[in-house]
Parts: sequence; C-alpha cells; structure tokens
Amino acid sequence: MKKILVIHGPNLNLLGAREPQVYGRVTLDKINRMLKAQAKKAKVNLVIKQSNHEGRIVDLIGRAKINNFSGILINPAAYTHTSVAVRDAVVACGLIVVEVHLSNIYSREEFRHKSLISPVASGTILGFGAKSYALGLSALLDLIPHLP
Ligand code: DQA
Repeated sequence: MKKILVIHGPNLNLLGAREPQVYGRVTLDKINRMLKAQAKKAKVNLVIKQSNHEGRIVDLIGRAKINNFSGILINPAAYTHTSVAVRDAVVACGLIVVEVHLSNIYSREEFRHKSLISPVASGTILGFGAKSYALGLSALLDLIPHLP
C-alpha cells in the first residue's frame, strides 16, 4: 500500500480553539479522522505528524523518501512565510508535495502573502477551511502514479 505523509506545522495542534473566526472550529483531531477515512477509501496508508519545531519538520520531510513515502501533504503554518529550511527540504526530498492552508493567506496580513513553499510545491490549496485538507489529499492522490 502507498504511504502518504501528512505534516501539520506550528500551532495547528490548537485548531478548534485558535482564532475560530479565521480557522473555524474544527479540531485537528477531526481533520485527521476525516483524512484517515478518505485515505482508507483510496487504499493508501496515511501517517500524520504535527510539530511546532522547524528542525523536526525538516527532518520529517528529509527522511520521507527513505521511509517509503510516495508524497507529502503539508500545512507549514507560520513556517510558510519564513522557512528557507522547510522550502529546501521540500526541494531536496524529491517527492510530490502538496501545500495546504485553512485560510486564504492572500486576504490576510501582508506578511502572509508570500509563501516560500508554493513555488516549490506541486500545488497549493488554500482558503477552504478544513476542506482544504480533503481537496489537497485528493489532488495529491491524483498526482501519485500507479495508485490502485
Ligand atoms: C495557515 C496560515 C498561516 O499564515 C498561519 O501562520 C497558520 C495557518 C493556514 O492554514 O491558514 O498557522 O497555514
């Protein structure tokens, strides 16, 4: 079975309680359960990680190929706008990487308008709340060859 790595970046562990007017009231646990159900239907194995630490995220991306992942779905959260290290890891990993955001970063503060990840991701889905993840996983599965 193909393996997909899902990475949630900093502060996404607080979803549900964190700025619900921006991110909605859906918890990370709920999003993860929804993604697991979607993956089960598609007959892929999902491994889900959340970290508030840039180096940990870089390590997860860097080891993804060795760990037999076929693709990565990532919400880099605040590191989207700051992390050359996460961007370099995405380029180096040689896998299909889909970037997702709950909010529309382009309708928010100016510092969020720049994503360092988008130019090196296979694609980006944003602005649909928790549904961005479902759409992102679906797009990622379409991009990965030889899925049953
Ligand atoms: C976010 C958008 C980022 O700007 C922010 O720092 C986040 C969440 C989103 O999913 O909308 O933490 O990635």
